[in-house]
Amino acid sequence: MSDLRQPKRLADYQIPAFVIEQTRLRVELHPTATRVQSELVFRRQSAGPLWLDGQALTLISIELNGQPLQQTEYQLNDKGLMITDPGASGSLQLVTEINPEQNTALEGLYLAEGVYCTQCEAEGFRRITYYPDRPDVLSVFTTTLVADTVQLPFLLSNGNKVATELLADGRTAVTWHDPFAKPSYLFALVAGDFDRLADRFTTAGGREVELEFFVEKGKGSRAGFALSSLMRAMRWDEQRFGLEYDLDRYMVVAVDFFNMGAMENKGLNIFNSKYVLADDVTATDRDYFNIESIIGHEYFHNWTGNRVTCRDWFQLSLKEGLTVFRDQEFSADMASATLTRIDAVKLIRTAQFAEDASPMAHPIRPPQVLEMNNFYTVTVYDKGAEVIRMLQTLLGRDGFTAGHSLYLQRHDGQAVTCDDFVQAMQDATGQDLTQFRRWYSQSGTPELTVSSQYDPDRQQLRLQLRQHTAATADQLSKLPLVIPVKIEILQPATGRRQQQLLVLSAESAEFLFDNIADNPLVVWLEDFSAPVKLHCQYTAAQWLSIAELASNDFARWDAMQQYWSQLLQQTIAAAELPTLSPALLALYRRWLQQPLADLALTAELLQLPDFDSLAEQYQQIPVEALVQALDSLQQQLATALYEDWLACYQRLTVTPYVYEQTQVGCRALRNLCLSYLVHGAAGAALMQQQYHSADNMTDRLAALRCGQLAGVAETAALLKDFAARFADDVQVLDKYFNLVVSSPKAQVFAAMVQLTEHPAFSWKNPNRVRAVYGAFSQRNPAQFHRADGEGYRLLADVVGRLDQVNPQLAARLITPLLSWQRYDQQRQQILIALLQQLAKRSDLSDDLYEKVSRSLV
Ligand code: TRP
Ligand code: ZN
Repeated sequence: MSDLRQPKRLADYQIPAFVIEQTRLRVELHPTATRVQSELVFRRQSAGPLWLDGQALTLISIELNGQPLQQTEYQLNDKGLMITDPGASGSLQLVTEINPEQNTALEGLYLAEGVYCTQCEAEGFRRITYYPDRPDVLSVFTTTLVADTVQLPFLLSNGNKVATELLADGRTAVTWHDPFAKPSYLFALVAGDFDRLADRFTTAGGREVELEFFVEKGKGSRAGFALSSLMRAMRWDEQRFGLEYDLDRYMVVAVDFFNMGAMENKGLNIFNSKYVLADDVTATDRDYFNIESIIGHEYFHNWTGNRVTCRDWFQLSLKEGLTVFRDQEFSADMASATLTRIDAVKLIRTAQFAEDASPMAHPIRPPQVLEMNNFYTVTVYDKGAEVIRMLQTLLGRDGFTAGHSLYLQRHDGQAVTCDDFVQAMQDATGQDLTQFRRWYSQSGTPELTVSSQYDPDRQQLRLQLRQHTAATADQLSKLPLVIPVKIEILQPATGRRQQQLLVLSAESAEFLFDNIADNPLVVWLEDFSAPVKLHCQYTAAQWLSIAELASNDFARWDAMQQYWSQLLQQTIAAAELPTLSPALLALYRRWLQQPLADLALTAELLQLPDFDSLAEQYQQIPVEALVQALDSLQQQLATALYEDWLACYQRLTVTPYVYEQTQVGCRALRNLCLSYLVHGAAGAALMQQQYHSADNMTDRLAALRCGQLAGVAETAALLKDFAARFADDVQVLDKYFNLVVSSPKAQVFAAMVQLTEHPAFSWKNPNRVRAVYGAFSQRNPAQFHRADGEGYRLLADVVGRLDQVNPQLAARLITPLLSWQRYDQQRQQILIALLQQLAKRSDLSDDLYEKVSRSLV
């Protein structure tokens, strides 16, 4: 790559020269020529020119204080517009023109399926008009939308609707005013025709809030669950954090063309329809869970993100890490706390650890960024949430809640930094968090090595802990971190147990426990109390004991994960296939014959870890060996416990579908049994029977998935039936695409070509593209990582072609190709060649350029 594009650095931050006190917009919607008039009331606050970002805009006119500006009085380039000396204060009037129909990047204002909508985070507002498009410029927005009354009956923007005017030409002008000053990334507008579903919510303080959902016509009945989730989220934030909603109206719009999950625009959230629409026939238990969690997430941003926002984009984790933590706490209260935690930990151990080990490694507060869209990552979001969770563990729930309140009180209406957040935690609790702050600046996965010695004569237990963080692609030297380690000391012979919080802040430390009467077993890192890799030399028998005896449900699941990964590591190192021990079989049989009260947990305990979790233990991933070992274990479990899987499957009775946690657990366990049963003689019949008789999508989809993954021949006919049954429902078709591309057989490549010819497929729709290629690269290790490189080549092709259409999407999809160092020589060569080919392209987006160039240094 010859061009050297310059990243922005956190160290170079400067306050903006001008504040924009008022922003008045008038947007006349047109598919190819939308006119945006803006009036910016500005005031100087420090030295420097007035800089307005702008991209892909046509400037029609520019006036300062009512006087047209001469070409010599401003400078225009492809990044923006500069006025050297506009005076200490004044008003700037601009007219620009944009083309929403051609906007396939889905940033700024775009038109898709007859709906105009915006996506401004992080830097999309500059594609709507010239503006200081940075989060520390907070302004009061008044927005008028003008559009055809019949075609676009709903014209929405942030805040309160203050005027509606019918124009003589058949258009309507609607004006919105948002009383809360906000940065441009929280601006939104929507115009379209929708089904509208509404309800009211009364806040603890007595404010009457109108809640409104706008969804595709004909799908209004699918918005009810999301609406009820919103009400639960509003109540929960009042009860848990004392936070109330602050406007009279809360709107949610669902669209099918969307780059991510959802967006927290003030008073006007815009959602990927995948995270709003649900009913029992089309949505799974997992869909319901995700909807509730994302509805919560965007709602919680109203305080953590909107009322208090980020000073600059390097601080993204300030709002995202914190808001993910808040949505996880909400989900833990609404659904299963254990399963919510297991889900979050799986994500850290797969995607986040992989990111740390990749060329894109970065701390939760990245110090430099070329394309901001590349930093909406599992590190910033999910490791960021783990850092917040550690604060809660260290400060206690009350201390944490006090710090949270102080942070919001102190900074309401401001754009602040991660340091401001930690400072509030420190001030509210009096605890010194100086060293803790390293979690914000240091990247990489810390490795925690633990051991214990028991002295029976002194009845004393000695625990030793050591931490080490290996160098990462972005940062060579590492310092010790503050690591909270929750443990339980089990004394199996007497049944005595004690839970304890250890804090490791040096490179190593020892802890002594007296009066330990019998040989203890220590449960380490309960609840995954820190985002680290644990090294602990236990025997298989010890892991199984913990899985059976630990007080903490999460720790029981975790012990099974450690058990399996240790077994696989040992057998793969010896070039053997794993076999099942009598102890394991006995334990599994006990759980199957007498499931725990929590059936969802039982299902997790009886499930093998997936490819990605196991892969993370290896510097170089033994692809074939892992795939084979997992296959073999699955078959062996299926055979050895056949009667038990069957008895358990039949014992768990099917009741009419309700999304409710007892039923969710029951379905999870039953479908887990089915995943083993499909390997046996009666498997195909059971799968068919379940597919046809299911009254809900969870069980129907599970039947198909079990059949597809096990390679059951009868699945093909069911898949055909499924595609036909839901032929006009894109949300279900995405599940169908997903299933097709998960086939471990080589024919999957031909099947994928066919999918792109499916009438519902479109390269412009990120949901469709992800359902085919995202799912293939993430859920089909056997075919994606084929030694001949077919899988890699396919993805590289897709990424190259998508870069022209939607760079943000292309850059997300390329992720698995960047980590070439994790594979063997042959795969490395193929991957490097593919990356180099992409790098040669002169028209590469910043999004892809940043990732490809970092992977080829
Ligand atoms: N702030 C959004 C959230 O976390 C996510 C987001 C960032 C986003 N950039 C986006 C969503 C672009 C859609 C498109 O909820
Ligand atoms: Zn968010």
